[in-house]
Amino acid sequence: MKLPRRQILQLAAGAVALPAVSRYAWAQAYPARPITLVVPFAAGGPTDTIARIMGERMRASLGQTIIIENTTGAAGSIGVGRVARAEPDGYTVGIGHWSTHVVNGAIYQLPYDVLNDFDPISLVAANAQLAVVRKSFPANNLKELIDWLKANPDKASQGTAGAGSASHVSGVYFQKATGTRFQFVPYRGTGPAMQDLVAGQIDLMFDQAANSLPQVRNGNVKAFAVTAKSRLPSAPDIPTMDEAGMPGFYISVWHGLWVPKGTPKDITARLTGAVVEALADPAVRRRLDDLGQEIPPRDQQTPQALFAHHKAEIEKWWPIIKAANVKGE
Ligand code: MLT
Repeated sequence: MKLPRRQILQLAAGAVALPAVSRYAWAQAYPARPITLVVPFAAGGPTDTIARIMGERMRASLGQTIIIENTTGAAGSIGVGRVARAEPDGYTVGIGHWSTHVVNGAIYQLPYDVLNDFDPISLVAANAQLAVVRKSFPANNLKELIDWLKANPDKASQGTAGAGSASHVSGVYFQKATGTRFQFVPYRGTGPAMQDLVAGQIDLMFDQAANSLPQVRNGNVKAFAVTAKSRLPSAPDIPTMDEAGMPGFYISVWHGLWVPKGTPKDITARLTGAVVEALADPAVRRRLDDLGQEIPPRDQQTPQALFAHHKAEIEKWWPIIKAANVKGE
């Protein structure tokens, strides 16, 4: 039976519309089950802490549990790879930062492109690092630390989250700037490294404020300086690197959220919306503030702003890192 042409066209239009309709219905139904948030560093560290604060509040907006999955190793590049390979369906989200999505791309032969194999969700927060030492370390300020390190080359040990991590790159930078030498001890994150610093197993760290501030406040470690141009409102007693005698030593570790490339735009928009709501929540802001976090302004809480910032950071840091000859594991 030969169908009239109009009916064939209607059927064809219906057929074409079907995937769009089901995709729209699907996006409308998103999320229909728990979402996994992959943290590329160990539990208890700064990235894990920020992920849990955000995940808890995003759950309220999305109406689904956010499961934190710590997939660690190789300065975070293993966990980021897990997200790059995941189904682009909105159920796998990754948190990362300056070192996982910039530094690692310059020092590791990665099986993914740190910029183009992901769809950006939003910037989350940025924090400076603190130069901290174990409580019993024989120095009381940054100058005394540098003098001791110069007088005792290769004797001290610095904890890092792996070669290329933010905590490692700033250690390399510090050695070059001060002419000092000390060992690097890699951990799966600065969370476990901090435990060893508190226990006096290692001597120093350059560690994100989110991880160090609670230990500084408890008197478990000593902080000598913050890698920011101005003191942290949440820690006004800690001098800046400029004030402590190392002008220009500025490091800010910014965190962002990404999904695998090709995730439907309706779904990334839902996730961005949940981040915006979380960062507007006074309770979330208080917790992030207290951990020395700088929250991006509202107009920077967009996928486009994260992509632009990410790209600019790659263009700025890759030449520096390649010239510094920082080696991956
Ligand atoms: C962590 O969560 O362990 C840190 O983000 C690692 C680092 O400082 O690079």
